[in-house]
Amino acid sequence: MRSALTISLAGFLAIASGAGIAAAGDKQKCTIATSGDSEPAKACARGGRPEARKVMKKMVSDAKAKGQKIGCESCHMNLDDYELLKTAREDLTKLEASLAKK
Ligand code: HEC
Repeated sequence: MRSALTISLAGFLAIASGAGIAAAGDKQKCTIATSGDSEPAKACARGGRPEARKVMKKMVSDAKAKGQKIGCESCHMNLDDYELLKTAREDLTKLEASLAKK
C-alpha cells in the first residue's frame, strides 16, 4: 500500500516539475529525445545526455565549418534542461540533411 502511494506520488512530482526531478534523480537521462531516430535521440539511447551533448556539439561544429551560423541556442532555450524552441525539430531535420550531403 505504502509503496503504491510512493510510486504515484513520485509520478505526480515527475510530471509536475519534469526536468527538475529528472535532474535530481536520474540526472544523466535524456528527457526530450526519448524516442525517434534523430542523431541526438540515438545518442540518448546509447549514453544519455552526455552522449547527446557530444553528438550535438559535433553537429554544430560541423555546421559551423560549413559556414552555417548556428549554436546550441539556435534550438535550445537553455542548456540546463535543453528545452526546445518551437522550430528546433524542424531545424534539426534540416541540419541533419545539410550535414549528410557533403
Ligand atoms: C538545429 C537545432 C539544434 C541545435 C543547433 C542543437 N540542438 Fe540539441 N537537440 C535538438 C533537438 C530537436 C533535440 C531533440 C531531438 C529528438 O527529440 O529527437 C535535441 C536534443 C538535445 C539533447 C538531449 C536532451 C534530452 O534530454 O533529451 C541534448 C543534451 C542537446 N540537444 C544538446 C545540445 C547542445 C549542447 C548543443 C550545442 C552544441 C545543441 N544541442 C544544439 C536540436 C538542436
